[in-house]
Amino acid sequence: MPKHSQHRTRGKYALDADDLEWLESTPETDDGPPEGDRWSTWDQSTPTEKGPKPYPDWLVTELAAVDTEHGVLKTGKEADVHLISRGVPGTDRVCLLAAKRYRSSEHRLFHRDSGYLEGRRTRESRMNRAMANRTAFGKQVIAAQWAVAEFGALCRLWELGVPVPYPVQIVETEILQEFIGTRDGYAAPRLAQVSDDLDGLWEQLVAAMVTLAREGLAHGDLSPYNLLVHDGRLVIIDLPQIVDVIAHPTGPSFLDRDAHNVATWFAAKGVPTADPDSLAALLRKEAGLSL
Ligand SMILES: Nc1ncnc2c1ncn2[C@@H]1O[C@H](COP(=O)(O)OP(=O)(O)O)[C@@H](O)[C@H]1O
Ligand SMILES: [Mg+2]
Repeated sequence: MPKHSQHRTRGKYALDADDLEWLESTPETDDGPPEGDRWSTWDQSTPTEKGPKPYPDWLVTELAAVDTEHGVLKTGKEADVHLISRGVPGTDRVCLLAAKRYRSSEHRLFHRDSGYLEGRRTRESRMNRAMANRTAFGKQVIAAQWAVAEFGALCRLWELGVPVPYPVQIVETEILQEFIGTRDGYAAPRLAQVSDDLDGLWEQLVAAMVTLAREGLAHGDLSPYNLLVHDGRLVIIDLPQIVDVIAHPTGPSFLDRDAHNVATWFAAKGVPTADPDSLAALLRKEAGLSL
């Protein structure tokens, strides 16, 4: 029996019409929810696999909740992002989540697998061998590692007050996070598609990058495609390759590249204060890399 279904204890012959209807609608063999695509996975994650407390008010944590798939927001080389709703049937308790699912089974290599993974080794030599040989098991390990890395980065940045989607939970290769978009499921545009209030967005971005740099971090893949704009607010996404700029052998170059990618874009759009070299210099200074 699924843990969510009700157990009724009644005398053997005490079934009335309601009970019979209930029995028919919930056959013993079916572990799925009465509606939706799966039971909420909230209780499948341990406390450390859930986002930082306090859990936001909007987040549905009820065990009776079900998850419903609403389609793919984007398919990518390494992961697909799906829109799902999590709600308690028969109530108005519902929230929208973005489910980022890292792929492990296909014949593809992460474009981020090489340089970024330097210095990140698992203790198990069997895993290291499997990862090096790209066996199916090795790919599963790599996909799960990217998911863990991104979830950890989201939690860390959320707690620093950097604008990122709230990280709800991680289950194996799937990360559930706050959906950035409208209540009826339209995803926020990427910065690349935005032309309003670029001066304000630039200021928000510099502030966020400075906070990261002070922590010794670079996003590592920052671009107008990994920044969403919702209600005038900039939100940073896509963080699996976040780089420790002090420990990584070529850490400072990631800081410079992030700075150039975004400042060049803002400068081309006519934001007067956007300058790639001065942003790179500022970030290096904040990270304590230049004297
Ligand atoms: N939390 C989110 N809310 C809304 N849309 C999202 C969210 N996360 C990702 N997306 C959408 O999915 C796209 C791909 O997500 P991203 O994390 O950048 O993965 P990829 O590695 O495929 O680039 C984003 O450009 C954005 O349009
Ligand atoms: Mg991306």
